[in-house]
Amino acid sequence: MVVLKTAAELATMREAGRVVAEILRATSEAARPGVTLRELDELARELLAAKGAKSSFLHYHPSFAPVPYPAVLCLSVNDAIVHGIPDTRRLDAGDLLSIDFGAHIDGYHGDSAVTVGIGPIDADAQRLSDVCRQALDAGIAAAVPGNRLGDISHAVQSVCRAARYGQPAGYGGHGVGTAMHEDPHVPNEGRPGRGLPLRAGMVLAIEPMVVESGSSRHRLLLDGWTVSTVDGSRAAHWEHTIAITDHGPEILTAL
Ligand code: MF3
Ligand code: CO
Repeated sequence: MVVLKTAAELATMREAGRVVAEILRATSEAARPGVTLRELDELARELLAAKGAKSSFLHYHPSFAPVPYPAVLCLSVNDAIVHGIPDTRRLDAGDLLSIDFGAHIDGYHGDSAVTVGIGPIDADAQRLSDVCRQALDAGIAAAVPGNRLGDISHAVQSVCRAARYGQPAGYGGHGVGTAMHEDPHVPNEGRPGRGLPLRAGMVLAIEPMVVESGSSRHRLLLDGWTVSTVDGSRAAHWEHTIAITDHGPEILTAL
């Protein structure tokens, strides 16, 4: 069931989105060579507590996962695409890191992800991240009343394919509200003019993922969460939670 949000609900979601954006920025700035993934997770936990918000990810236990999610950040390095669990790994100069973070205030969630380079990164890694970010922007631009869900999917897909990047099959975005994952599923591939008609009051997380080699193959690691490329090539991931309004898309997780 797709739930339309009231103006009062959107006001709360704006607050949650701002907290998500602030903590994503702080963790991005702290992501430097020599820092461990667990230290970044600790930082996010402290900031969450300071801001009076709660993690959307910690203890989250969807049916596909063997264990509840044990952290507040998903940290996916290089060939990890999404849902990497923070551990004692130290970041190296040249790593490509996706930071995914969700938080809720008064029961309303925000969900966003960025990809950042650790120290200087090579031009191919920068382009991978930039194209993924452009795919997100294209998807957001298509999130207007009168369009359909397939218009968002097609916009994302077009940018990724033009760059000859792979997209992990089956992964995509989702509705956001009193649950982090609500209907509808927002595919990253699809046909324009098809699917659910978009209406003001819908809140969606749009989250493209791209794989450098062009492969769409992915695998789940033994930790039960980390989704990685099969061929070892690198991936990027960007995400915003947006509200569809009569005045165009509003990014809730922007600063
Ligand atoms: N942005 C991620 C997603 O929508 C957040 C979920 S991570 C989890 O899949 F650990 F909480 F599952
Ligand atoms: Co999400």
